[in-house]
Amino acid sequence: APVKASESISTGVFSRGRAAIAARTLRTDRWWVPPALTVLGLGAFVVYATVRSFVRTAYWVNDFHYLTPFYSPCLSASCVEGSSHFGTPIGQLPMWIPLGFLVLPFLLLFRLTCYYYRKAYYRSVWMSPPACAVAEPHAKYSGETKLPLIIQNAHRYFFYVAVIISVINTYDAVISFHAKDGGFGVGLGTVVITANALLLWAYTLSCHSCRHIAGGRLKHFSQHPVRYRFWTVVSKLNTRHMQLAWTTLGTLVLTDFYVMLVASGTISDPRLIG
Ligand code: FES
Repeated sequence: APVKASESISTGVFSRGRAAIAARTLRTDRWWVPPALTVLGLGAFVVYATVRSFVRTAYWVNDFHYLTPFYSPCLSASCVEGSSHFGTPIGQLPMWIPLGFLVLPFLLLFRLTCYYYRKAYYRSVWMSPPACAVAEPHAKYSGETKLPLIIQNAHRYFFYVAVIISVINTYDAVISFHAKDGGFGVGLGTVVITANALLLWAYTLSCHSCRHIAGGRLKHFSQHPVRYRFWTVVSKLNTRHMQLAWTTLGTLVLTDFYVMLVASGTISDPRLIG
């Protein structure tokens, strides 16, 4: 496409100091495939999570103490009996407010401001730019220096909240070791919920902010052996941050879907113990 006058001076790729190439890109490979897949993947998750957060059905299996992560913690008097492990400090909620409304916004903000997800949606949704050596369509670039993107700098604080939520997910995993007649039990649901909680920990701890909290601003690692050890572990996890980001989106959906199937009586939970 021909370069518009406004583009010729303002955007990064078309700015004065760059080679004057009229085409938006000279790439001939299918550079649009990764951003397109990203839009599909993120879009599917957002649609699924939104629908499930609002429907208020089949989120708790009383027999085996399975709670879906989308409703955890369930703190409202509107939660079904048995699902409120931390009491019901919040009264009844109208149908248009999800029962997980206290936690869901923070989880969303944690993922929205995540360094990996930024890369993903800046490229795929915002197309800024959509791929290496492909010019972006926007005329101006202010980066993360203004509202709303300046909020990206608060990622570290959303990380702290995500750690608390991971502890709550761990609690949900522990109580899922429950037999129908009380006592200790293990079913396929226990395995699914526990695997999801472990992977959520791996994603949360592999966070770039976590890595900085662990080992940042230290002059001498030798004088801080514990932080150095922690930083080393987090650094290893951090190299898999993208994979963990996608894996946990998948396991969140899988866990919720599984709890929904069992809670609604569509399938029965295969039991290993109890
Ligand atoms: Fe992705 Fe912190 S950088 S969760």
